[in-house]
Amino acid sequence: MTEASERIRRLVRPAVQAMQAYQVAEPGDLIKLDAMENPYRWDPALVDAWLETLRGVQVNRYPDPAATELRERMRSRLDIPPQAGLLLGNGSDELIQLLGMALGGRRRTVLAPGPGFVMYRLIAGFTGMEFVEVSLNAEDFSLDVDAMIAAVRAHDPAIIYIAYPNNPTGNAFDRAAVDAVIREAPGIVVLDEAYHAFCGETFMDAITGYPQLLVMRTLSKMGLAGLRLGYLAAHPDWIGQLEKCRLPYNINALTQASACFALDHLDVLERHTARIRADRLVLHDALARIPGVERVWPSQANFITCRVAAGSAAGVHEGLRERGVLIKKLDGTHPALTDCLRVTVGTPEENARFLDAMTEVCAA
Ligand SMILES: Cc1ncc(COP(=O)(O)O)c(C=O)c1O
Repeated sequence: MTEASERIRRLVRPAVQAMQAYQVAEPGDLIKLDAMENPYRWDPALVDAWLETLRGVQVNRYPDPAATELRERMRSRLDIPPQAGLLLGNGSDELIQLLGMALGGRRRTVLAPGPGFVMYRLIAGFTGMEFVEVSLNAEDFSLDVDAMIAAVRAHDPAIIYIAYPNNPTGNAFDRAAVDAVIREAPGIVVLDEAYHAFCGETFMDAITGYPQLLVMRTLSKMGLAGLRLGYLAAHPDWIGQLEKCRLPYNINALTQASACFALDHLDVLERHTARIRADRLVLHDALARIPGVERVWPSQANFITCRVAAGSAAGVHEGLRERGVLIKKLDGTHPALTDCLRVTVGTPEENARFLDAMTEVCAA
């Protein structure tokens, strides 16, 4: 052990030694409302049809490195501009990593508004980049455009990430504010539209007008988190450079076949998404009525962030767990999120279980 520690200290990059590994809560049999997953499973007939297509997959062979059939299916079913290049990742997390590998290194900066998605900071760390966070307006988590532009001028970021809608705050920033940042960017702007399905607004069409704009999405939040498939659309020259850093078989054969199948049944995923959007409103209003819940922010994503009474977040989080419900404690992760919790919109039954538990815990 001593021998290992000495070598670790000497060899592992200091930025990596200083990092904490990404932690995922163990759900056991709790109602899982912590990770922005879609709660709906496919009906048995659809599962049978899916398993039938998997029969044809030759797992003894490497997958198609270009994922040709899947990319064609994505282009025909998703609103990707025909002129744009398309890069696939093992989840959009991997795309963030690819961006770091292609653009990273010393004296390269990643800039993002905060509180924001943790992976931008984490991946900047292990791809040797500086990370600069620009605070969102504390009251409504809107983008502070003046502060963003001042920071862009001061730090000359190679990459600016803007999650639209933002995680963990749930809001989609004002379009004109985002446009102003894109116009000011000296490097690239990655619009992370992971929650696009719940929002309706998109910058996908703007790719053709802005060569510095890359739009990233994922199929995770639409109900396919287990497949790990993210995509990035941008000017083909950008995609050509990023492709060089992509490992050849990053999208495995089962994912390629399953995602093709799912895209042929996009109506099912869209029905689930519409249901979640409708239930989000009900959940928001019910949560806002619970005594002890001080603030509920409007959401354009599939989760809701709220603030509970000062100092009570840890107790509420634990109380919910004891009552069988797992949500995310944001309190302690960022100064702007003190006393905050985040809950994913589940099925109506799951939401009701959460609300009952929340009412009980907040009254205790
Ligand atoms: C803003 C944002 N971007 C990207 C991701 C990662 O998505 P994926 O499952 O495609 O890696 C998440 C996941 O929570 C997210 O919140």
